[in-house]
Amino acid sequence: MKIFLDTANIEEIRKTRDWGLLDGVTTNPTLAAKELAKGLSFKDLVSQILKETPGPVSIEVVATDYEGMLKQALRISSLGDNAVVKIPMTLPGLKTIKALNEKRIPVNCTLIFNPLQAMFAAKAGAEYVSPFVGRLDDIGEDGMSIIDEIKAIFLNYDIKTKILVASIRNPIHVLRSAIIGADVVTMPFDVISKLTTHPKTDEGLQRFLDDWKKNFGEGDFPL
Ligand code: G3P
Repeated sequence: MKIFLDTANIEEIRKTRDWGLLDGVTTNPTLAAKELAKGLSFKDLVSQILKETPGPVSIEVVATDYEGMLKQALRISSLGDNAVVKIPMTLPGLKTIKALNEKRIPVNCTLIFNPLQAMFAAKAGAEYVSPFVGRLDDIGEDGMSIIDEIKAIFLNYDIKTKILVASIRNPIHVLRSAIIGADVVTMPFDVISKLTTHPKTDEGLQRFLDDWKKNFGEGDFPL
């Protein structure tokens, strides 16, 4: 399962990449706006993210009509070979996905909340579909159950579109994604950090170090 970071923050991207965990990045207008408040232009921010990320970076259009989305998508795609255009799951969005697919421009279809939306986005030619599991949990549904359903549909029809689980809020979302066999999870930096730590790891390490110190003191490593 690939691990993407859901962020527009360069420091978070660098840290995750240096831990050897970063396969790609997803951004959205909310995440970008947070970083733009710090003074960078949108073009500079996107170019920097594309340069620092060793894999696909999803950048979202903000137009909602076909012509506008297509125009913005072409600009996004011209910024780097690893740029993936994020298009919302709407009827003009489907038309845009089809047009971009004909130009071999990869698309991540976003804001998916039911399995049939995922099936239709795949049919239009999306390379990735992004179901938002956390936002479904927020309204009292089991977000992960649509990942199960999308996986079953894609297996039934040998659909090659990748399932990119988005709106991840906790490690259980990541675990269940891996068990179901999702292709990608995109998660905020704080979830990645939580996943790498365990109190028993810290406790065990401390005990090893204390036992070592009892025998060898603080001296140089004796090898
Ligand atoms: O990038 C899309 C998605 O991951 C947003 O997550 O937490 O705002 O629902 P969230």
